[in-house]
Amino acid sequence: MTIATRRASGFTRTRRLRASEALRGLVRETRVDPASFIYPLFVVEGRGVREPIGSMPGQFRLSTDMLAAEAAELSDLGVRAVLLFGVPGHKDAEGSGAWLADGITQRAVAALKQADPSLAVVADVCLCEYTDHGHCGPLNARGEVENNAAIELLARTSVSLAEVGVDMVAPSDMMDGRVGAIRAALDESGFAELPIMAYSAKYASAFYGPFREAADSAPQFGDRRGYQMDPPNVREAIREVAIDIEEQADIVMVKPALAYLDVVRAVRDSTELPLAAYNVSGEYAMLKAAAAQGWIDEERVMMETLTGIRRAGADIIITYHAKEAARWLRQV
Ligand code: PBG
Repeated sequence: MTIATRRASGFTRTRRLRASEALRGLVRETRVDPASFIYPLFVVEGRGVREPIGSMPGQFRLSTDMLAAEAAELSDLGVRAVLLFGVPGHKDAEGSGAWLADGITQRAVAALKQADPSLAVVADVCLCEYTDHGHCGPLNARGEVENNAAIELLARTSVSLAEVGVDMVAPSDMMDGRVGAIRAALDESGFAELPIMAYSAKYASAFYGPFREAADSAPQFGDRRGYQMDPPNVREAIREVAIDIEEQADIVMVKPALAYLDVVRAVRDSTELPLAAYNVSGEYAMLKAAAAQGWIDEERVMMETLTGIRRAGADIIITYHAKEAARWLRQV
């Protein structure tokens, strides 16, 4: 086919097909669908808690008794999956609250599965919310995360979540060998069917700022650059993804999304596995802040953002916009 040649008195072929919403709908190459969203939820101790998160307008920290109503709302909107972050009342050096049989995330999983067995409940698996120092695993004498100790604890945490009925685990720690260690532990414990969504290319990003307020997980000293990826690198992301696939990850992820859409595309082109992109807290906060000032059209910018993530090649979008985007899609 030759590239559109404009006739003396007419439009090019591309332009003719923009004439109406019906025609635009026919030739649309990318669609955004609530079935591809995963909605993150922050769960705290207590009863009757629905505490607004200051830097993430519209997002709340919920106690477990509030989760049934949340599940009903999501189901009504066609959002079929959540990603759970537990915020424990007690923290220690090892992060032992992460694998307690009745830990905060374990109780949240059970409450959601009881409320709606058809909801896909994914649990984030990391220790930074549970350690008193805020790093993603126990520290050695030099104050660095002990990789092999961390992956044992992440595997133990994953099994404890499987035992309460989680549908998928999502390790977000970026320790080496954790996908393989989790897979082996799940298989040995009779959970061979449980999938792993790996945060494979997770960058050391300043866009996680609001999340750390929400999850109370900011490192008390230092930063995560020793284990999370360096933002300028893209070939390294392909290698990280390849390692996680080798270790039997079922879904791979790029995080954050917007400053990393080239990484999403590069990973998309490097594997046939399902790919998730995490539209993170800082990305959400920026959009909400500009909208609150009246500087942008909130709904259109939100939909354009989500469309861009899908167009870059993500199958799944983890997003705080899930509910409002689903509501908007229902209207149009
Ligand atoms: C835990 C974790 C983080 C996020 C998801 N899992 C924070 C971090 O790595 O510091 C960030 C999510 C967001 O910003 O929305 N390791």
